[in-house]
Amino acid sequence: MKQHINWRELGFTYMQTDSLVVAEYHDGAWGKPQLRTDTMMPLHIGASCLHYGQAAFEGLKAFTRRDNSIGIFRPVENARRMAVTARRLVMQAPPEALFLEAIRLLIVNNLDWVPPYGTGASLYVRPLLIGTTARVGVMPAADYVFAVLCMPVGPYYKNGFYPVKAYVQEKYDRAAPLGVGNVKASGNYAAGMMGDLEGKEKGFPICLYLDSATHTCIDEFGTSNFIGITTDNRYVTPDSTSVLPSITNTSLQRIAADFGMKVERRRITLKELPEFSEIGACGTAAVITPIHSITCRGAIHTFGKENEAGATLTKLFRQIQGIQYGEIDDRHGWMMGV
Ligand code: PLP
Ligand code: COI
Repeated sequence: MKQHINWRELGFTYMQTDSLVVAEYHDGAWGKPQLRTDTMMPLHIGASCLHYGQAAFEGLKAFTRRDNSIGIFRPVENARRMAVTARRLVMQAPPEALFLEAIRLLIVNNLDWVPPYGTGASLYVRPLLIGTTARVGVMPAADYVFAVLCMPVGPYYKNGFYPVKAYVQEKYDRAAPLGVGNVKASGNYAAGMMGDLEGKEKGFPICLYLDSATHTCIDEFGTSNFIGITTDNRYVTPDSTSVLPSITNTSLQRIAADFGMKVERRRITLKELPEFSEIGACGTAAVITPIHSITCRGAIHTFGKENEAGATLTKLFRQIQGIQYGEIDDRHGWMMGV
């Protein structure tokens, strides 16, 4: 029986579901993924994830489709990205088959929590990887835990596909040029919390970060990649060594190209902001969040209407959501069944 949840009113908040899945790495090998109902986990107080930040995560979504089947959006890409993150943080990554098996096991055991078709909600899947060996010298753990949680979610920014105001946060950098901004290290989010919080206190739900070396180019938002649509309908997104390679962004670039749009991945300077007719923040949680204004160094740049997303971002949003909800032909084979 489906849970009694007001699916349409869901935000992006933690919720405990029936179970989670855990796999452990010891003596050079991964064990089988196990279903667990206990959300508490015994952890050595010396664990490398606690002291030295050997912690990484992923985020992906599963959807109930129009034909009532469940589809997961591009999970192989998340498995690959977790492997890249793990390599950068000198951690052991779960092999792709284990990653996928764990997610499937989790979803089939939490079917009552998968939002029904037509509610606009989805099941957020959160894989987590942590180093668990006690270390006091700075060195990689020998033991790892890979856990996957899930919960039903609605929009990350409360009004969903509705324009928000962004703030260019220059007081703090989020990621160094050759640091770990291009991987999904948990510490990146701690590094961004102060900037995001100060932005929120000024009334901006989302902060935009610049390249930390020169503060002249756009990197990304704290939770999502930057997309600019030019007045002549090009799709422009930053090329930077400190930006997370977003699976949503890659998919939207493909969709934009399918629509016949020119796609540019390159450095984007702050000075170019007035050349965009639409700006979007994109990611698994954010999907596409239209940005109505960007406040930077006392100037306010506005894009489109305050209360309505622009035409191009609307078209891209409908297409990606249409594929995810099984309403539009999945011509690129992005959806995986459970
Ligand atoms: N950038 C950052 C910093 C993120 O946290 C995320 C979320 O995962 C993204 C971009 C978007 O990536 P994806 O589309 O793969 O979710
Ligand atoms: C996601 O979009 O999945 C993320 O991991 C972003 C996170 C800050 C919620």
